[in-house]
Amino acid sequence: MTLPSADTIRRAQTAGAQMASFETPFVFNCWYVAALASELKNELLERMILGRRLVLYRTSDGVPVALDDRCAHRSFPLSKSKLVDDTIVCGYHGFRYDRTGDCVEVPSLTKCPATIGVRAYPMVERGPVVWIWMGAAEEADPSTIPPLSWMESSEWTLNIGYLDLPASYIGLHENLLDLTHIEFLHADTLGAGAPGYSMAPYNTEIGEGVFALSRTVEPASIPGPFAGPMAFGDITTGGRSIRSEFVTPALHQLVARYYDTAEPAEQRRICFISTAHLPTPRDHVSTHYFIVNGRNFALGDAEVTEDLHRGMFEAFAEDVWGLGNVQSVLSATPAEELYEISVKSDTAAVAMRRHIRNLALAEAAERAA
Ligand code: FES
Ligand SMILES: [Fe+2]
Repeated sequence: MTLPSADTIRRAQTAGAQMASFETPFVFNCWYVAALASELKNELLERMILGRRLVLYRTSDGVPVALDDRCAHRSFPLSKSKLVDDTIVCGYHGFRYDRTGDCVEVPSLTKCPATIGVRAYPMVERGPVVWIWMGAAEEADPSTIPPLSWMESSEWTLNIGYLDLPASYIGLHENLLDLTHIEFLHADTLGAGAPGYSMAPYNTEIGEGVFALSRTVEPASIPGPFAGPMAFGDITTGGRSIRSEFVTPALHQLVARYYDTAEPAEQRRICFISTAHLPTPRDHVSTHYFIVNGRNFALGDAEVTEDLHRGMFEAFAEDVWGLGNVQSVLSATPAEELYEISVKSDTAAVAMRRHIRNLALAEAAERAA
């Protein structure tokens, strides 16, 4: 039996202490996806984001609204109240709140005091998603929402989904910067037909807030979920090229290219799949996992959309299963016993986790000041 030496454990724990973990404070000054645009209707929706319970709705003129889900009077949840003419009438004693969170009516008083209200959060709708700013209101700048123009372009066909991830968003970002798991966790889906994938050469980019990994594997087969929709069939001369980039705590962008190396390079048909992985922490051990996929082939073909969606979400469900299991082990391990040993292929993920921790701690210090 070979157990790590006390020195190895100490070094792993020292390195781990410099990285974001599931217990690290959240990064609030960041735009997160609060909901899919299709989820927001003229009805009340309860949603926990970064540990805060919110009520979301869309006004009858289409404006998304997010308020704290706690009546200022006796803490009745506004999400369990009534939406009347785009205002929320509390289900307990009838205080009425408008879309800005101001209380505009107290039924037991003839005049509503101007000092009652609940916090409203800035929201911005962009294509299929609605972003929310949970940080200091004066720092909410919509120009810092990551530009994902392909999500709103007719040159891409989208398929969109949501997964309930029973794990920290930190683990998801790490998973997305780690292509070595594809051969194992996705052995029957994305990893099929690419033996030795985890040994294929890769390129790491680490810069100021930039963490990316890319890998090209040739020749390989095209993964099962894609081969049919991309009309490549069961070729063994395929090429797979994937670039994965951490953009913000709320966005991890993957761009995958699939092609047939038997076709001359200049005439090669390249199928792109662009995926925005959009994790929004519900709390420290669970995450709203929004996913938007775009493709540049078979545009508008509903059957392809359905096939691709089924195949991709089968693979994403494997990540959710894997990360959920990791979280349950992490949550059950006493802090003083916990250590995780990193290897060379973890370099980008380690740097990214250090970056998130630095962001979170700098913000926490600012809040405390
Ligand atoms: S708790 Fe909402 S009005 Fe009393
Ligand atoms: Fe994965």
